[in-house]
Amino acid sequence: MRPSQAAFPATRFRRVRQSDALRRLVRENELSVNDLIWPVFVRDGEGQEEPVPSMPGVMRRSVDLIAKAATEAQALGIPAICLFPYTDPSLKTEDCAEAWNPDNLSNRAIRAIKQAAPDIAVMTDVALDPYNINGHDGFVVDGEIVNDETVEALVKMTLAQADAGADIIGPSDMMDGRIGAMRAALEKAGHSRVTIMSYAAKYASAFYGPFRDAVGASGALKGDKKTYQMDPGNSDEALRLIERDLTEGADMVMIKPGMPYLDICRRVKDTFGAPTYAYQVSGEYAMVQAAAQNGWIDGEKVMLESLMAFRRAGCDGVLTYFAPTVARILQG
Ligand code: PBG
Repeated sequence: MRPSQAAFPATRFRRVRQSDALRRLVRENELSVNDLIWPVFVRDGEGQEEPVPSMPGVMRRSVDLIAKAATEAQALGIPAICLFPYTDPSLKTEDCAEAWNPDNLSNRAIRAIKQAAPDIAVMTDVALDPYNINGHDGFVVDGEIVNDETVEALVKMTLAQADAGADIIGPSDMMDGRIGAMRAALEKAGHSRVTIMSYAAKYASAFYGPFRDAVGASGALKGDKKTYQMDPGNSDEALRLIERDLTEGADMVMIKPGMPYLDICRRVKDTFGAPTYAYQVSGEYAMVQAAAQNGWIDGEKVMLESLMAFRRAGCDGVLTYFAPTVARILQG
């Protein structure tokens, strides 16, 4: 018989909960600054910083201020920062050429961060939606999101990001075959050290709403993303996608959104044992902030508890807009 199965009063679970010291001693999971990836929004201009209305506390920053923010994040010990560009509508086209422009906003931000804060890893997003006139992650031909042509464009985008100095490529497009194509192209171009964190199990979710405001894609998106992002009813499919992406060369895998999909995180970690991450997305962030602002929940406690949940579910880390706030708390 395992000791925990012994009958009361031999076993009193409350014994080890009676003091902070004992609670700390028996704690199974810890949240650390090493678990944090900070997603940030980049805009054009200089010295510009504007709040995102649907994400209280989140800013869009110009490249110079992104570099400054990255320096602060590095000082806080945050290991990685992830860039999302707010693209001027005039740069959105059907052929999405701005996506692989070596001097686009995102690539300029990568270079500025690598110069200002060389020790923080820079992660990118690979998908055409910031540059697509119709807001989709892939090319639209006759009303259909075409896979293979999109993958070719994503490879060009990936190489431009790697050339700019990206450490982690983050394909979020959910096209088939993109990881293998990107890995092969990176190797061929001499970027064998550039890593890939695949948004492998990405669901067609309503939790992305505030993000689409933040990057200015809400107005542009025609229809939904259900032909390429996953059906929220599926779980086995997530395992098959993760396996496929790991086989094609992903170094790390991500589940997205986060909190509503913790069951997927646990299955993925248990099945593959690969570096596993979750994205606590914009809608999750907005819900916590909105309730906290109304005084309905203790925002700080809910934030910490929600992040601990990812550790308990087996994640090695989490992309969270709370990253700098949490890092400050963890550093005391
Ligand atoms: C773009 C992308 C999205 C998010 C990350 N990359 C939006 C989408 O797929 O529509 C969402 C992030 C968030 O909600 O915080 N491919």
